[in-house]
Amino acid sequence: MIEGGHPLDGTVKVAGAKNAVLPIMCSGLLSSGSLRITNAPQLSDVNTMMAVLRDLECGTERNADGSVTIQPAKELEACAPWENVRKMRGSVTVLGPLLARTGKAQISLPGGCVFGVRPIDLHLKGMQALGARVKIEHGYVIAEAPRGGLRGAEMYLAGSMGPTVLGTANVMMAATLAKGKTVIHGAACEPEVEDLGNCLLAMGAKIKGLGSPRIEIEGVSQLGSADWSVIPDRIEAGTYVLAGAMSGGRVRVEGCKPEHLSALIDRMWEARVPFDVGADCIETQPYHPRDPARRPRATDVTTHPHPGFPTDLQALWMALMTLSDGISLIDEQIYPDRYMHIAELSRLGAKIRRQGNTAIVQGTDRLSGAPVMASDLRASAALVLAGLVADGTTEVHRVYHIDRGYEKIEERLAGLGAVIKRVDEKDTPSDN
Ligand code: EPU
Repeated sequence: MIEGGHPLDGTVKVAGAKNAVLPIMCSGLLSSGSLRITNAPQLSDVNTMMAVLRDLECGTERNADGSVTIQPAKELEACAPWENVRKMRGSVTVLGPLLARTGKAQISLPGGCVFGVRPIDLHLKGMQALGARVKIEHGYVIAEAPRGGLRGAEMYLAGSMGPTVLGTANVMMAATLAKGKTVIHGAACEPEVEDLGNCLLAMGAKIKGLGSPRIEIEGVSQLGSADWSVIPDRIEAGTYVLAGAMSGGRVRVEGCKPEHLSALIDRMWEARVPFDVGADCIETQPYHPRDPARRPRATDVTTHPHPGFPTDLQALWMALMTLSDGISLIDEQIYPDRYMHIAELSRLGAKIRRQGNTAIVQGTDRLSGAPVMASDLRASAALVLAGLVADGTTEVHRVYHIDRGYEKIEERLAGLGAVIKRVDEKDTPSDN
């Protein structure tokens, strides 16, 4: 429940990156010792990944200091069943490490998702390139390494929609224990893939080219124990920055890496939203977003792989643009159907039309509170931001989506002066 119109003011500290910690947890499967992960965010997706790993006989523990320890048993279970995998697509990242470690893996297909099909063909192509036999039966991917284990190979891993983030993570992890050299062309350059690679280096892997589209991995016979601190969550940081920009308040987002948000920063300059950038913080500056002379300038974005504008901030950028001074175009190039939030933002008075991959946003000077339904993680966060500036009360339903990727969002926003509280709801959770 959000009562809109209260200016935000204060400091928020960014948590560890969800999309880095999930594959990093899976990399623990490769260790012949244990992996201790610090700066691990308190998210329901992290709990789901712990459950997926436990199904594989891999020990997981949330320690008193908030860190997470991953300790695989000597004999791992090769099957990741549907019950937990279906809750989160990121679970598919157990495939590579499990295959490399045990020579076989049977992983439930994760299923669809509200913003599109989200295939895993590239993950499977990568495993096949490393010599694995892969088949799909009864809703499961069944993969088997050749006799003698996976073999390094040179491959092009991007598809028609560009590079794959989790596919790159999966193949990179599998290749760390393969025999010989693997070269991934068309690798994802996202900071989360780089963070995973750096964690693997700390475990003893040999990897070059992290952060570039050409990653080279020289297989080793085993990986050891490591302590790894996860990078800050750039999407969470961007969300609070946009919350500050929408409210016209001073919001200092601390502990982030502005270099991971260069496309957002560029678009915010273009939109003439006042803010400052420090070495590890971004701070929005007070202004009157409803003053006709100061409204954010209508500014187009196109989502692209890193360092382009992230698809995970598309819904949040749209929320800002609903208050802009003109017409902006949002072009979604990663997930063409990731537009579930349009209908709900419209319920708050936003003027948005969709044509194919493109959303056309006509800015307005006010939004008005209403009950809305969250459909996925980032869309829900966009509805919360819109609710913070809408007149009256906004009820965002199905907020369990938000808990997947934002640590205690209502407490953090309340800490910035928002009037927001969580109330129990009786909805049955869906599984996307
Ligand atoms: N694709 C294929 N085949 C594949 C894999 C991907 O065609 O085998 C396509 C996808 O359909 C999409 C494009 O390639 O069009 C890129 O998808 P990608 O594989 O990069 O997405 P992902 O790895 O499954 C991660 C994040 C998403 C984020 C995307 C894009 C995690 C756990 N998930 O997904 O995060 O949107 O990269 O940056 O890391 C979120 O946090 O809300 C979220 C959805």
